[in-house]
Amino acid sequence: MTDFIHRFEPATSAGSPPLLLLHGTGGDENDLLGLGKMISPGSALLSPRGRVLEHGMPRFFRRLAEGVFDEDDVRRRALELGDFVSDARKQYGIAAPVAVGFSNGANIAAALLLLRPDVLAGAALLRAMVPLSDPPKAELGGKPVLLLSGQADPIVPASNSARLAALLSQAAASVTHKVLPVGHQLSQADVTLARGWIGNVA
Ligand code: MLT
Repeated sequence: MTDFIHRFEPATSAGSPPLLLLHGTGGDENDLLGLGKMISPGSALLSPRGRVLEHGMPRFFRRLAEGVFDEDDVRRRALELGDFVSDARKQYGIAAPVAVGFSNGANIAAALLLLRPDVLAGAALLRAMVPLSDPPKAELGGKPVLLLSGQADPIVPASNSARLAALLSQAAASVTHKVLPVGHQLSQADVTLARGWIGNVA
């Protein structure tokens, strides 16, 4: 199995989609388990730890500066994560997951959607940015994507998240984009909106 340290929690309710939980910079495989349970109680949870270290902080790909990505690494790491998900699906017997990513985890989930559209059933992208300046032409065939941005996010400019929403819509994803009156950190509104959205996806 492609080598990611991870946690897996089996489903406790048959109707809930598996979630692929992708943490932010400095997080780990434990971080989003609670969020996953709040958003979709009963879902199987697959939660890898990012394999890149930035001053000891786990991430899912390298960056040159805040918001400036090493795009070769984004591509390589997204494919690697896609292989991990495929292997984990076989090992644990789960369907294609819905990604729930925060910050750096949302950015790798966006890259995965664009580079390997078959891997994910959908994605909730919390504080995501455009991951690739020259993305491939993807065909997302109506896959549901929830994009939650912060109006006062110091890391993600509003124009950038709007561009990501447009990019995913052009790739035929079914995009719901909401801008919340918050910054980069998650809020109760994120949980409530993600929970309502995933209830309609399942
Ligand atoms: C990133 O590097 O993916 C973004 O700047 C978000 C972050 O991790 O701070």
